[in-house]
Amino acid sequence: MLKRLFQSKGKADSREAARSSVDKKSVPEHVAIIMDGNRRWATEHGLPRVAGHHTGMNNVREITMAADRLGVHVLTLYAFSTENWKRPKDEVDYLMGLPQEFFPKMIGELEEKNVQVRMMGHRELLPEQTLQTVEEAVKRTEKNSGLVLNFAFNYGGRKEILHSVQKLMEDAAAGTVRADQLDESMFRQYLLSGDLPDPDLLIRTSGEIRLSNFMLWQLAYAELWFTEVFWPDFTEVHFQRAILDYQKRVRRYGGL
Ligand code: IPE
Ligand code: IPE
Ligand code: MG
Repeated sequence: MLKRLFQSKGKADSREAARSSVDKKSVPEHVAIIMDGNRRWATEHGLPRVAGHHTGMNNVREITMAADRLGVHVLTLYAFSTENWKRPKDEVDYLMGLPQEFFPKMIGELEEKNVQVRMMGHRELLPEQTLQTVEEAVKRTEKNSGLVLNFAFNYGGRKEILHSVQKLMEDAAAGTVRADQLDESMFRQYLLSGDLPDPDLLIRTSGEIRLSNFMLWQLAYAELWFTEVFWPDFTEVHFQRAILDYQKRVRRYGGL
């Protein structure tokens, strides 16, 4: 017991030490995370793959609170891609059920911390109950002015761009926009990310070095950070390390 107490105090101290070395003035405003490696984590622990997703879900709480403490304004989490429907039905069903467990458990704390929940994804194909649970959390927190917790759920970058072009063409046909008015700032209003700034920092866990159809437009100038750590094992200390590395980067945007 005493040993465990000391261990957890040690952990808290290292979290504190790392947090204090983060320069609060240049914390990335928007951090996006590809939360990957849940199933490999489960295999490594001799557990069924859904146990990996469950532990991964619990880690969303940890990292959301860490983002809030660090002063991040927007945290976008890739929770389910448009390609993830290709997985076995029982796994997809389990993933679709997670919001019904996450939000009732978390909503009080999210409200208390002034977190605003958003959903960035395609509504079609989502089970009615899942969509309702997410939309309820969005509604309940819409007036909150703290951290924006943006779930990329049933999200695909290419689908998002195609939808935007489709809407734009409809507006052009209706005569509300003209081709010569189109510029980047107009186009981004059609994207699912709407008024959110582009991510400054993209983190991907589990050792995969790819985007997997994530925020293709918005990540154009993000700083990329990869770790071998599986998502269920990704802690606040890893998060701080990513931010510290980000703070050492020089963002040139093609100039300088
Ligand atoms: C990320 O972990 C969660 C989702 C994609 C829903 P994975 O389920 O992709 O786990 P790995 O990458 O196969 O280990
Ligand atoms: C990307 O992870 C999607 C999410 C984390 C939600 P995947 O595990 O689905 O990506 P691939 O298959 O390795 O590209
Ligand atoms: Mg994966």
